[in-house]
Amino acid sequence: MKINKKFFNILSLMLVSTFMVGCNNQGDFKSKDEIKIGITLYRQDDVFISNISNNLEDIVKENESKYDSKILLQFVDAKGSTLNQGNQVDKFINQDYDIICVNLVDRTAAATIIDKAKSADIPVIFFNREPVEEDMNRWDKIYYVGSQAEQSARLQADIVAEKWLSNVELYDKNKDGKIQYVMLEGEQGHQDSLIRTEYCIKALNDKGIELEKLADDSANWQSDQAITKMSQWIKEFGDNIEVVFSNNDSMALGTIHAINSNSDLIRKPIIVGVDGIKEALEAIKSGQMDGTVINDAYGQAKALFEISMAVSNGDPVENINGIEKGKYKKLPHTKITIDNVDEYLKE
Ligand code: BGC
Ligand code: CA
Repeated sequence: MKINKKFFNILSLMLVSTFMVGCNNQGDFKSKDEIKIGITLYRQDDVFISNISNNLEDIVKENESKYDSKILLQFVDAKGSTLNQGNQVDKFINQDYDIICVNLVDRTAAATIIDKAKSADIPVIFFNREPVEEDMNRWDKIYYVGSQAEQSARLQADIVAEKWLSNVELYDKNKDGKIQYVMLEGEQGHQDSLIRTEYCIKALNDKGIELEKLADDSANWQSDQAITKMSQWIKEFGDNIEVVFSNNDSMALGTIHAINSNSDLIRKPIIVGVDGIKEALEAIKSGQMDGTVINDAYGQAKALFEISMAVSNGDPVENINGIEKGKYKKLPHTKITIDNVDEYLKE
């Protein structure tokens, strides 16, 4: 009996210690062997956003072997719903993700997400849709990756100015010395829509070029909506449209489609976009579009990756090249016209 009891005690001790080792191993496994990054997208079908996602996947594949940990990327589509996005963030938190990357559906609704992540102590990297500064200051483990919106506007203005001044005779259709324009805006309230819309006109004014607005409206970054808007404007203003400013390339491509399928227009206006998506580069090459400004999808994906890895390895984010105020990384743009498009079409 005595021996049995002793044996039993030893056995239970062994069991307890095995259990404890198991726990430790599991705990270590989670933080060391795998880094889980959850990414919620405002809309997966947005061309520019899907470029960022594809780049991020490639960057992880290329770099994973340099790290001790496996890297898991999980993309989810909020389909334009704040409610969906909130649920997706909850799921990432419940499943103990290490980092959550958020492409906000509504950039004014960041606070709820931040507060949830803060109580679970999971860092958040917002990207492409910038929370207001007050929200960014709610916690020291939130970051933002995006682009330098004012620069994109100024470069877009440069393209228009160069084109216009190269042959005012030709482009000033009504010979009044001013640019009659229409403006296709992205989503209302999106920092890139607001800033691009305002500063491309300001920049042209600064260059001494006068403009007259015929119409402007939001087409929510989408090509289909741009076709509808542009078709309406062609009916309304016909050949008086001298320049079409578009806050992004998808909408500029919609404009081209509307122009090509409408016989009321005698001469194509100057058309400019932002992003540098492949279809836009091809349209520049074929002369249907006059220029675009590259919004660096690769650079933004790389910044998401670098911040994620720094945060999960406990390295200071301040050391990452180009980080401002310890939490912002805003990538610069490049101007594309017929003069340099070949270089970028090759990539
Ligand atoms: C891009 C748009 C995109 C939007 C999505 C902007 O920075 O230029 O093409 O639709 O972000 O939030
Ligand atoms: Ca004119």
